[in-house]
Amino acid sequence: MKIIHMLFFFTVFSFTISHASLNDFCVADLKAPNTPSGYPCKPLARITSDDFSFHGLVAGNTNNSFKFGFNSATITNFPALNGLGISALRIDIDQGGSIPMHTHPDATELLIVVQGEITAGFLTPTTFYSKTLKPGDIFVFPKGMLHFAVNSGKGKATAFGALSNENPRTKILDLLLFANKLPSNLVAQTTLLDLAQVKKLKAQFGGSG
Ligand SMILES: *[C@@H]1O[C@H](CO)[C@@H](O)[C@H](O)[C@H]1NC(C)=O
Repeated sequence: MKIIHMLFFFTVFSFTISHASLNDFCVADLKAPNTPSGYPCKPLARITSDDFSFHGLVAGNTNNSFKFGFNSATITNFPALNGLGISALRIDIDQGGSIPMHTHPDATELLIVVQGEITAGFLTPTTFYSKTLKPGDIFVFPKGMLHFAVNSGKGKATAFGALSNENPRTKILDLLLFANKLPSNLVAQTTLLDLAQVKKLKAQFGGSG
């Protein structure tokens, strides 16, 4: 009886150990279809050191109305992030430029300034929290908060960031309000913005109506 018990516990124990080590990581196999429970894992035999490094977090194109460039390393271009709950980004902002108001509904963000001066902050209905950051400074945007960043210095500014999700979603306020076909009078009526301003911003962001 005792021996049977011991065998039983040993079997359960070794199963637990091997199950855990199999799940230390799961590099996504992006060639296989995504499923509700995520991408399947790339077979261990095909995983190399290259899977765990990413090249190309370079300066993005800043030729846009906000004068910012953006690049990121998320599950779709860095499949080793699968299941790890983290991703990386880089922003470059020309003098006078900004990162528009946006939220990440499913990720907290760290912003780490490496060049220039960036004023970053987030909003609540009753107040805001904002700091002017120099190289080496970090700001944290708690998950879901509407936040922004502006280049408040001279010359270019660069920051790197980390998001607590391997596939974070981003909702940009101006695009939600002005990039679709919801009739301008409804946007004006539901935001109390002037109709002329709504029409102007719809033209700028590619919306209509
Ligand atoms: C910036 O973009 C505009 C319109 O998209 C284009 O006409 C212009 O040539 C671009 N400028 C540079 C320097 O790429």
